Order: sequence, then structure tokens, then C-alpha cells
Amino acid sequence: MPKQKHIPVLASEVLDYLQPKKGERYLDLTAGYGGHSSLILDKIGEKGQAVLVDRDEEAIKTLKSVFAGKENVRFIHDDFLTASKQLASEGEKFDVILADLGVSSEHLNNQMRGFSFMNEGPLDMRMDPREKTTAADLINESSEDEMVKILKKYGELANAKKVAKHIIENRPYQTTTELAETVAQVVRRKKRTHPATEVFQAIRIAVNKELELLTSSLPIWIELLNTKGRLGVISFHSLEDRLVKQAFQEYGGERYDARLQIVTKKPVMSSDNEVVFNPRARSAKLRVAQRK
Ligand SMILES: C[S@@+](CC[C@H](N)C(=O)[O-])C[C@H]1O[C@@H](n2cnc3c(N)ncnc32)[C@H](O)[C@@H]1O
Repeated sequence: MPKQKHIPVLASEVLDYLQPKKGERYLDLTAGYGGHSSLILDKIGEKGQAVLVDRDEEAIKTLKSVFAGKENVRFIHDDFLTASKQLASEGEKFDVILADLGVSSEHLNNQMRGFSFMNEGPLDMRMDPREKTTAADLINESSEDEMVKILKKYGELANAKKVAKHIIENRPYQTTTELAETVAQVVRRKKRTHPATEVFQAIRIAVNKELELLTSSLPIWIELLNTKGRLGVISFHSLEDRLVKQAFQEYGGERYDARLQIVTKKPVMSSDNEVVFNPRARSAKLRVAQRK
């Protein structure tokens, strides 16, 4: 079967809720392979301005070729916290901001990036290979306490202690399949998911500092919005969704000094139809807020 290319999730919902219009300014914090960006750039037209951010060099290379010749598009190869701080320091403001969190299908499909437990590859998992710590470093060098914390906090494993102990007893690891097989010895398969799903999620979140970056970035994104500007965040697990919900509640609501109006009282989810042709969409949740 051919490997699936990255299909933008919740594409029509993103357009409906973020309402990009001709001449507006758009910031995509996780531009990836340009799926959402293409749709939004079409709406804002040549008079609109776009800044596309990604921490992955391959994604930036693809974006530069997809949008070659477009003078209204700027690219930033950095993590979204660093990029957001830079844009704020330049005094930039945007009408539409989108963050579609997590990994892309290209990450999962390229076994050399080490994200997939299905295909053998080096235990890497860095979205930005300029970062120092790989998944192998983390797994081979963490103490048992650190490993338990990672598995509990980022993988929400009920039996984190038992799994951490077993992982540590079988060190060192070089490849994704070595780790996946070791985990499968102590974790039972849940329904259709591979036993190593949560462990791989936990390690990936830790390697890429995903939750720390999101927590620190959300307040800056709100500041980067123009009045009436819309911020949309698509998350893929409850840990991220909780952080987005909390930030929206903290800055939103009816208080006189609230900066945000929450547009989606409940997260918007994919239709059954979308999930059929894009299984990755199953766990996607979109939350949108508007700057007052
Ligand atoms: C789900 S994909 C985005 C796909 C994109 N919306 C599209 O339609 O093509 C997530 C992308 O965000 C990038 N990414 C994840 N976390 C990031 C971060 N903290 N800073 C910058 N980019 C990040 C990943 O490298 C990946 O390319």
C-alpha cells in the first residue's frame, strides 16, 4: 500500500471557524507540508501576508518549494516558542493564527526519523535534528524515577513503574523495534492499538518538550492577535487539549479584562466521513478563540 501523504485535518472546519479574508495576516505555527497554509493563503490572496513556521527542516524545504515565488510568504525554521517570541519582539500582529500540533505523516512514514514502532529505525524522534537529545539518549540514560515520570505524565500509563523498570532492565536500545518489542512484553494490547503506543507518545513528547513549548507559547499567541483576530489550535491528545482549554479559560470569558472570546465552547471534532479517509483525524480536536 502506498504510504499516506499528509492530509490536513479538519480542513473545512478550520476555514469556517478561522474565517480568513482577503488581505489578512496569517501565522501558521506548524506549517508542516503546507496543507492548511495553501487553503488559507488562497483565502487571504496576494494582498494578505503569511508567516509559516516549522521546526523540521524537511517541512521548511517543502514549504519553500510549494510556495516558491510568493513574495507575501515568510518562512521561519524554528520551534514555535522561539518564532513567536521573535515575531512579538518585531511588533508583528496577525488576524489568523493556526497551530496544528504534533507530528506529520511524513515523520511517521520516514523510518529513519525513529517515530514509528511499526518500522525499524534509529531511536531518534527529534522533530528538529539540530536538538541534542534523541529518544535513545533519553531512554538509555534516564534514571528509573525520571522514566516513571515521563511515562506517567506524557503517556498516562497506569503501570508506569512496572514498564519503566522493564525498559531499564533491558537497556541499551538502538532501534525503535527493540524498544517496541521490550514494551510489548509487559504492556497488553488495547483494542486496535499497539502496546507501545503510549510509551512512544510519552518519549516523543519528552524529547521534543512538546507540552512545555505549548504552555509557554499560548499567552504569546494571544498577544500576537490583532483585535478580532482568531486563534485555532488542533490537538491530538488530552494533555495538549487540556492546556489549550485552560489557557482559553484563563484569558477568556466575561470578565471586564478578558482578552479572548471563546468561539468553540466544546472542541470541534472530525466527521465520520473525514476519519474514513484520514484515520489520523480521529483524535483531532480544534479549539478557537477570538481576540477582543
Ligand atoms: C501535524 S503537522 C502540521 C501539518 C500542516 N498543518 C499541514 O496541513 O501540512 C505538525 C507539524 O508541526 C511541526 N511542529 C510540531 N511541534 C512544533 C513546534 N513546537 N514548533 C514548530 N513546529 C512544530 C512538526 O514538525 C510538523 O511538521
